[in-house]
Amino acid sequence: MVDALGVAVVGFGWMGRVHTQAYARVPHHFPRLGLRPELVTVAEEVPGRAEEAVERYGFVTATRDWREIAADPRVRAVSITAPNFLHREIGVAMAEAGKHIWIEKPVGLTVGDARAVADAVARAGVQGAVGFNYRNAPAVEVARELIASGGIGTVTHVRIRLFSDYAAHPDGALTWRYERERGGSGVLGDLASHGADLARFLLGDISSLTADTAVFVPERARPTGATAGHILATGGELGPVENEDYVSCLLRFASGARGVLEACRVSVGEQNNYGFEVHGTKGAVFWDFRRMNELGVSRGTTYQDQPVSTVYVGPGAGEYGAFQPGAANSMGYDDLKVVEAHRFLRSIAEGTPYGATLADAVHSATVLEAMSRSAESGSWVDVHP
Ligand SMILES: NC(=O)c1ccc[n+]([C@@H]2O[C@H](COP(=O)([O-])OP(=O)(O)OC[C@H]3O[C@@H](n4cnc5c(N)ncnc54)[C@H](O)[C@@H]3O)[C@@H](O)[C@H]2O)c1
Repeated sequence: MVDALGVAVVGFGWMGRVHTQAYARVPHHFPRLGLRPELVTVAEEVPGRAEEAVERYGFVTATRDWREIAADPRVRAVSITAPNFLHREIGVAMAEAGKHIWIEKPVGLTVGDARAVADAVARAGVQGAVGFNYRNAPAVEVARELIASGGIGTVTHVRIRLFSDYAAHPDGALTWRYERERGGSGVLGDLASHGADLARFLLGDISSLTADTAVFVPERARPTGATAGHILATGGELGPVENEDYVSCLLRFASGARGVLEACRVSVGEQNNYGFEVHGTKGAVFWDFRRMNELGVSRGTTYQDQPVSTVYVGPGAGEYGAFQPGAANSMGYDDLKVVEAHRFLRSIAEGTPYGATLADAVHSATVLEAMSRSAESGSWVDVHP
């Protein structure tokens, strides 16, 4: 017996589409879930965009006002894929209305926002999933297990990188992402939030850090119409970029391990160069998002000149088997969101969380806030989860 679960999406830009497609695909990849998501309604403020989502993806109704979704008895779970400044208000309202929420990172503008949504979810007793999709990659889960089992010895240091060119074009539109009021931080919330989550997922808590930030494209053209994703606004009136393009950060982990996290949104020649290199006393493990199902692994007791092998993960690694029948068949970005959707729905079905939760979002936001403070003061800063 498969129960239907009414879902809604708030904000139909890039992530709204990706969440919607993920809900539609969950039954294909996870037929034993026992819960079938039904696309009930979508809220979007740009005229026509929600109606287009109804037409293309099969929602039953559309609205301009997300508050109607909070009051809609057909809806039991809500994806919050609107810009960051709306996360807190919508997240708290949906939880208080008894809706389970799947909310995008970084969950608000500040650690206070993330905490407010986490508290509302806890008070309401609903499930709260967060869009830290990179930890859902099967190879990342294998790396985590390898590290935890001592497979590379005691971890000594890690490098985590998130380099992208999505904001590199000087004509890139001055969207909500570049404003303090609507985006909050810049590359911190956009990319370093994922890096902070990966660091903790792989190696445990960060205890202190020191960070440096920079703005490399100080002005951008204001868009003349509605935006979604990363569009150009060539010739538009220029306005100031209010948040950082770049961050570099030294990390100390509670375990004693050391780390470097670097993230940039204006790196010409870098397309989604996201990954990590974790080093231990007996080996190392390497991952690159662009070759998502591969791990570089060095294990043994040779120490010097110890070989590095490429391992293709396959069925048995994380949720790989739900997508491909054998190793070395590619999975893609959207598949990670299907894994995330499945974990969210499974959390609802079983009443216990699977995958990244709002507690993880609070941890990530705490690290980002420490990076901001350190960049301002130029000092090492303790991280208090
Ligand atoms: N997990 C990831 O890898 C990932 C990737 C990209 C974005 N994100 C996160 O997803 C969120 C959305 O990012 P995006 O790239 O989809 O942005 P986007 O600009 O493409 O989409 C946001 C949408 O929200 C709509 N919106 C704005 N105000 C609204 C309101 N009051 N009611 C309803 N809709 C409203 C906008 O019109 C737009 O269509 C952000 O929080 C971002 O950090 C996560």
